[in-house]
Amino acid sequence: MNEYVDLNHSILIVDDQESIHEDFRKVLMQEEEKSPELESLKTEILEISDEKSLLPDYELDSAFQGKEALARVKRAGKKSQRYALCFMDVRMPPGWDGIETIGRIWEVDPDIQVVICTAYADYSWEDIYKEFGPRESLVFLRKPFDSTEVRQLASTMTQKWNLMQQARLKMDQLEELVHQRTEKLEEAHEKIRQYNEQLEQMLDERTRELIRSERQAVVGQMVQGIVHNLNNPLMSSSMSAAIIRKALNDFSAKEYKSAEEELDECRSVVENVLGKLSYIEKSNSKMNKMTSSLLTKSRSDISEKRETVDLNDLVRRELDFLQADYVFKHDVEKTIVLDKRPLPVNMVPGEIAQVFQNLVRNAIDAMHGMAKPSLSIHTFPDGKWVRLKVTDSGPGIADTNIDKIFSPFFTTKTTIRENGEKSDEPTGTGLGLWMCQEILENLGGSIEAENSPEHGAIFTVTIPATTERT
Ligand SMILES: Nc1ncnc2c1ncn2[C@@H]1O[C@H](COP(=O)(O)OP(=O)(O)OP(=O)(O)O)[C@@H](O)[C@H]1O
Ligand SMILES: [Mg+2]
Repeated sequence: MNEYVDLNHSILIVDDQESIHEDFRKVLMQEEEKSPELESLKTEILEISDEKSLLPDYELDSAFQGKEALARVKRAGKKSQRYALCFMDVRMPPGWDGIETIGRIWEVDPDIQVVICTAYADYSWEDIYKEFGPRESLVFLRKPFDSTEVRQLASTMTQKWNLMQQARLKMDQLEELVHQRTEKLEEAHEKIRQYNEQLEQMLDERTRELIRSERQAVVGQMVQGIVHNLNNPLMSSSMSAAIIRKALNDFSAKEYKSAEEELDECRSVVENVLGKLSYIEKSNSKMNKMTSSLLTKSRSDISEKRETVDLNDLVRRELDFLQADYVFKHDVEKTIVLDKRPLPVNMVPGEIAQVFQNLVRNAIDAMHGMAKPSLSIHTFPDGKWVRLKVTDSGPGIADTNIDKIFSPFFTTKTTIRENGEKSDEPTGTGLGLWMCQEILENLGGSIEAENSPEHGAIFTVTIPATTERT
């Protein structure tokens, strides 16, 4: 019997005849105070077991009219002691008939299982189907009843009600679980989104830092080159000074026979000194130009401020600095075609310098070891755009690499010198073109690479032209 303890076995019997209620009670209720010995003896002798002993403890309630039945269902609902099953008579004068009562009961408690008990053919199954539609919680029982049939129906229908509740509970629990999981997933998703945002921000900052530090490194290289280039005018200046000193010393140490001789010597020394002084002046002005343009470049390369500048001016200035590169200066044959019109662009000057330097450096690297390296630099306007083309006579870009060259860290150059081994092979980190792309895309511009039909690679930089002045 224990298996039924937590289950609901409340049954409502609705019939206008008192005797019917009695019949149900006899069929569904267990006899009280049964003697177990007598029961087992009965089973042994008659070889049957009492069906009733298999019954759960039903709680039976009675209603004699439809309205009373509805009131009981409502009350039971309020007390959370709902009925699992209702045996419903059809004809119950003078009140509602069974069909109307069922309809009203289901409005209050749609879970209740119903067995319609009727002896009359006043409602066919089709009528009831039309009334309620397909309902699996409704079955027919013809009067007069067969007691086994009543017990079976009571047992199956109450069990069905209980299973339905359990399934609903499980469903609710599952829904709650799903709800909790969904909330957790949403939380996790939100966290991931925030992390992503932070990561993107960090990546952005790092990229900018990298571009900045790379630019500073380029400036550093330039400084080395310039210092090297300062040597020539400096040497010629100091040599001229030494010559002047020697000429003056010789002049003052020499013994002159006559004042005339001394005057002639003096004139020749003055001429010599003037010549050397003009050398010194030239060298000084060369050095002056170098240092002041170096100052401008390092200042503008470090500045992060956008300015409107003429692309041609920038290219010219960068070409000056490239003179510091021995190979560029002496070995590479250069064709420079800068458009006659000014090509104004609005950007950080150091950034375009960085793009230019990267492209020229790549071209020089690509032509490393070639007999007649040649490089052409071309600027021109194109509608709303300003373009810069750098073409070299190197081997060009392998077809398999053309899609990869703008990816960070893609390089075909030596990355690290093994054991500090000295070699003049070009080295690279594979960040140059990626940085160029970052800089240009940030401006609404672009960079493209292609192979020239004759030989070498062509890089085309496109920058939005500006009409703004700063
Ligand atoms: N003018 C060119 N001709 C042939 N290949 C080129 C040329 N420019 C770039 N490449 C190819 O693209 C690769 C990537 O160039 P990128 O400038 O991004 O990096 P890197 O020059 O190798 O290293 P880094 O610029 O960081 O010092 C190069 O290693 C090279 O294989
Ligand atoms: Mg490079």
